[in-house]
Amino acid sequence: MLTQFIGLVLQAIDERRQKRRAEAKYSYQKTIPCTTLRITIHPQVMEWLSAPHLLIAGATGSGKSVMINLFIHDLLSKAPGDVAFILIDPKRVELVQFKDLPHTMLYTSERSEMIHALNGAIQIMEDRYREMQKNGQRKYTGGHVYVIIDEYADLIVTDKKIVEPLVLRLAQLGRAANVHLIIATQRPTRDIVTGSIKVNVCNRFALHCPTAQDSRNIIGQNGAELLPPYGEALYYSPTGLEHFEIPMIPDSEMDRVIQHWEQYT
Ligand SMILES: Nc1ncnc2c1ncn2[C@@H]1O[C@H](COP(=O)(O)OP(=O)(O)OP(=O)(O)O)[C@@H](O)[C@H]1O
Ligand SMILES: [Mg+2]
Repeated sequence: MLTQFIGLVLQAIDERRQKRRAEAKYSYQKTIPCTTLRITIHPQVMEWLSAPHLLIAGATGSGKSVMINLFIHDLLSKAPGDVAFILIDPKRVELVQFKDLPHTMLYTSERSEMIHALNGAIQIMEDRYREMQKNGQRKYTGGHVYVIIDEYADLIVTDKKIVEPLVLRLAQLGRAANVHLIIATQRPTRDIVTGSIKVNVCNRFALHCPTAQDSRNIIGQNGAELLPPYGEALYYSPTGLEHFEIPMIPDSEMDRVIQHWEQYT
């Protein structure tokens, strides 16, 4: 019942966002100049974001939330009708700054609501599949929804038997419906980052990890335990393993973009 309600609320929010879309799009392009930072990191971040789903794992303080901010910053170059967020923030402080963006369909840090948020995302996905079926399409052509979870271990401990199947369903079917997962965790152990999660989330960043075992569980080999405490990542994708430096978006830049968009909320 509550899930259905959340589904309806999300649908209403989605309709409102679509209306604001054109208007917001152009004013964003006018207001935000291309900083040097954007020009250099944008193509790489876009490439990462073209993955169906992403997992970011590493020790506490290794820069998981910095990476999520980097992705959100990049996605905020798009208008609310093109990109939407469902933000799940069990730690209460990691994603709260994005709560009032017009892109944010749902923000939750309450245990009781997190499962409904996942169900809401599944409902969006299923509605999109129904629409695709009706139109004879194999790929959804509308906007992208990003379900962002920071921190996954805290979410899954609420009730693994319920949470994991929901996350897996989104991971398995989300791609064609433009519903994506970005999952961060500081506990890349086998009981959290399970084999089934890895089969479905094939693009994975290992930031600095406490042990070689953690590194192996994320990217299939040792190495992330030797990275500096933050700022570098090993990136595993179906095309192989790469080593990247990770830029950090300065708070002032993030605030500027957030302030810009909040005018349209
Ligand atoms: N890529 C980076 N460049 C520069 N500084 C960074 C980078 N990544 C992390 N840091 C520094 O490390 C701090 C901690 O990063 P962050 O909050 O992203 O860690 P985290 O992995 O999310 O930790 P936690 O598990 O506690 O949430 C940042 O506030 C920043 O000072
Ligand atoms: Mg964090």
